[in-house]
Amino acid sequence: MTSSSRTATLERAAPSGLPRLLAGYRPDESMSLREHLQLNRPPPRRGATRRGGPLIATIEAAGLRGRGGAAFPTATKMRAVVQQRGRPIVVVNGSEGEALSVKDQMLLTSLPHLVLDGAVLAAEAVGADEVVVAVDRDTRGALASVSRALAERRAAQLDPEVLRLVQLPTRYVAGEETALVQFINGGPAKPTFTPPRPFERGVGGRPTLIQNVETLAHVALIARFGPDWYREMGTADEPGSTLLTVGGAVHHASVCEVALGTPISDAVHAAGGLTSEVSAFLVGGYYGSWLKAGVAWELPLTNAALRAEGAALGTGVVYAFPAGRCGLVAAARVTRYLAGESAGQCGPCLYGLQAISDAMASIADGRQPAVMAQRLHQLFDEVRGRGACRYPDGVVRFVATALEVFEDEIWRHDSNGRCLAGEPPLLPIPAYDGRWQ
Ligand SMILES: Cc1cc2nc3c(=O)[nH]c(=O)nc-3n(C[C@H](O)[C@H](O)[C@H](O)COP(=O)(O)O)c2cc1C
Ligand code: SF4
Repeated sequence: MTSSSRTATLERAAPSGLPRLLAGYRPDESMSLREHLQLNRPPPRRGATRRGGPLIATIEAAGLRGRGGAAFPTATKMRAVVQQRGRPIVVVNGSEGEALSVKDQMLLTSLPHLVLDGAVLAAEAVGADEVVVAVDRDTRGALASVSRALAERRAAQLDPEVLRLVQLPTRYVAGEETALVQFINGGPAKPTFTPPRPFERGVGGRPTLIQNVETLAHVALIARFGPDWYREMGTADEPGSTLLTVGGAVHHASVCEVALGTPISDAVHAAGGLTSEVSAFLVGGYYGSWLKAGVAWELPLTNAALRAEGAALGTGVVYAFPAGRCGLVAAARVTRYLAGESAGQCGPCLYGLQAISDAMASIADGRQPAVMAQRLHQLFDEVRGRGACRYPDGVVRFVATALEVFEDEIWRHDSNGRCLAGEPPLLPIPAYDGRWQ
């Protein structure tokens, strides 16, 4: 196929159905600026949007919520930035410290212009003259693709805003918004105490709009096709589509795009179906929650439905955990890694997470598991809500839900029963260089 016939087939008007974000996606290839503009038409700019103007109202009408974990309403954050004194700045949060998630790297690698369109449109909406694109420095594909995309846009004189690339250390908490701001301002990528929050005083002391990569890709499409189009899928309260990273005991671990409200079983089918019976699902990644397979299977992927089961969509990770393997041993390994990823600045995080990790290791090794499970509940109370950022709360949720879902394993370990750990270890532990700067 020639490149011209290929791009011709890419052209579309407002897409009905799926894919939306992933239209034109080709694995491991980066969509060029020319292909992107042919597929998506140029974004509406100048006059169509102005500071605090129609684009924010459009995003509000669409009901877009952030895809970086907290599902915060995007328009509310934009308005908060607009209301501050001083020239705002926009930061694209391209950090993806969550080890089980690859959807943001995939977007940055394959569809960089969709994300950059969203960023410059957001900049226009809040009156920012500068966009910082922050990308994990270890993600070679994403870095190369974003660098190339920025060069293409500069050559085409596409954006009146200044767009610059910043390479982030790869650490779990480096993508927390205050850590991101501190790093861009020349410090370590560690969270800082708030207030002020970045929307008040962030990069260079300016009001700073920080949005996740996927959120901005949605902004780019909503600006083009409007809120009614966006609401054609999803639920009334949580409209639109979302990206998921589906992994574990599935045939094709992959990123897929689904309508919000799609049951977990459909997401699993989109990833080729299960390779074995599963005992549990980890939803939201290492910052998320464990759910028993029977509870999770037909659960709709919305924050409301997941919240009712004590979980959240987070960064859109769905990990199928195979039956016949020990969830406690797997969770104990991850907990040790998470304790090591603390920025080590607050007592509850520094000492509390280490104590939680030690207690999990005891349970996994069969050393007083029932006693240690009791001890963990005390530790949760000592840690929860006490850090400068919400990192320790996420670790507590991960461990607490593991204890609930794999309760039977605690008794098995206690009675010296045969541990089902098995090989190779499940759940990946990333290897970072450990630096904060
Ligand atoms: C410990 C921690 C780690 C985080 N890591 C990321 C991250 O890697 N990428 C990201 O986009 N947001 C991350 N966030 C969320 C950001 O702080 C921020 O809320 C988000 O980038 C805002 O974008 P959104 O509103 O578009 O979701 C993290 C939050 C916490 C508490
Ligand atoms: S709670 Fe933990 S990760 Fe957050 S700032 Fe304190 S030490 Fe750092």
